[in-house]
Amino acid sequence: MPYFQWNDSLLTGIKTIDEQHRQLVEMVNNLHDTMEQSGQCPTPELVGRLKTYAEEHFHVEEGYMQAFAYPEYAAHLHEHEGFYAAVKSCEKGCADGSTHPAELLEFLKSWLTNHILDVDMKMGRFLEDYL
Ligand SMILES: [Fe+2]
Repeated sequence: MPYFQWNDSLLTGIKTIDEQHRQLVEMVNNLHDTMEQSGQCPTPELVGRLKTYAEEHFHVEEGYMQAFAYPEYAAHLHEHEGFYAAVKSCEKGCADGSTHPAELLEFLKSWLTNHILDVDMKMGRFLEDYL
């Protein structure tokens, strides 16, 4: 069973966004598998790839929200910004040894799950009327 098991309760109903979420879940699983083999923090390159993809994905969501004047855009944007800051502090912790590698993964998994189930779902319900 994968570390981060996809389930359909994570579907927002917006196809592009759902495909990107699946991809993010897969990337977290790949990070997990790599770390399990090495027993060490993921390389900056691997984490960088995930950050780049997350950034592209956030831009897609933000584009939709702006295009249709989503009323909760600012709060959602704030969450996305919080993600970068938190990943950065996990990476720092990994580098100086104060964060166990597994914590970075647990953070990514729980952040994504909570973000999708809460704010992305709300956004999805709003966008359904336009897309
Ligand atoms: Fe989002």
